[in-house]
Amino acid sequence: EEKLNILNLPSLEAEAKKIIPTGGFGYIVGGSEDEWTLNHNSEAFNHVQIVPRALTDMENPSTATKVFGLDLKTPIMMAPTAAQGLAHSRGEEATAEGVAAAGALMAQSTYSSTSIADTAAAGKGAPQFFQLYMSKDWDFNESLLDEAKKAGVKAIILTVDATVDGYREADIINNFQFPIPMANLTKFSEGDGEGKGIEEIYASAAQKINADDVKRIADYTDLPVIVKGIESPEDALLAIGAGAKGIYVSNHGGRQLNGGPASFDVLEDVAKAVNHQVPIIFDSGIRRGSHVFKALASGADLVAMGRPVIYGLALGGAQGVQSVFEELNHELEIDMQLAGTKDIEAVKHAKLVKVHY
Ligand code: FNR
Repeated sequence: EEKLNILNLPSLEAEAKKIIPTGGFGYIVGGSEDEWTLNHNSEAFNHVQIVPRALTDMENPSTATKVFGLDLKTPIMMAPTAAQGLAHSRGEEATAEGVAAAGALMAQSTYSSTSIADTAAAGKGAPQFFQLYMSKDWDFNESLLDEAKKAGVKAIILTVDATVDGYREADIINNFQFPIPMANLTKFSEGDGEGKGIEEIYASAAQKINADDVKRIADYTDLPVIVKGIESPEDALLAIGAGAKGIYVSNHGGRQLNGGPASFDVLEDVAKAVNHQVPIIFDSGIRRGSHVFKALASGADLVAMGRPVIYGLALGGAQGVQSVFEELNHELEIDMQLAGTKDIEAVKHAKLVKVHY
């Protein structure tokens, strides 16, 4: 595969649109209702600014970081996203290869096109997390948690913001049904997802989740459980009280509750409530090095991206994925140098300002 030449992440969407079939592209790009929240996710990073620092004798800042006991080359990770076979025939296996080559962390989705073991193997020992959509069927949950453990996965991400499918109009207009099976669902009686819409797939997952459910999962697995889809201090504290070892601030890329704030706008308040009890992962709208910088300076320990990686996968397979990570990390390095921050710890302590234009 040829190396994908990337100017910036926002430009990937239009390129990917040319090669991903309409239904699948609509599912990937879309948000819920009129997409107000989706559209504000990236815009919200403009609500704060980075203070330039010049006389700091700064050269070659390091983006390496250690979190959840893992040594990573970059604080940027792959968010769990479903059905990557929509973008590339090798799906998550190619993603895992590209993410590993970039020295980053990969999260697998419950609704992956390839199995937990196959995706883990494609990462060749690079760290991966597994994201669980809690099912009504407890045997299903246990079986996936066991499989993740066996595959050497380092943590479980429990997604709690999708007990019902957000009202995603593109999927309705396109009557979108997954044209490919979901590997983790194949052994269960309700079918493997092929030919079903996302609303129908979510309907077999738990329709309500509370702190006791988080506790039950945290008690069952000896892997750390990170709760994803947290946008309020209240939910963060409930999750930690139930045994969460990480908080994942996300509005699901604007695909679930529309009309909620941009994810970045709630990060600081959630981080204050968490108060360094556990690490924080942040996503939704990350497209620029400055976005990563601002999220880290606002309380995040890791920053994830979803759609840009899928576009990189569609455009260039494993190489494309690697290029997306390297491009964003390169922008981060430039921003770190110009802000006088020599490492990720310094970025986390950088002061942001709020200037009203
Ligand atoms: C997602 N997301 C998601 N989240 C999750 O916990 N499990 C999943 O299976 C999926 N599937 C999924 C598919 C697609 C196509 C997208 C775009 C997103 C949400 C994902 O983890 C993440 O929160 C967002 O993608 C972050 O927003 P950006 O980076 O896409 O703006």
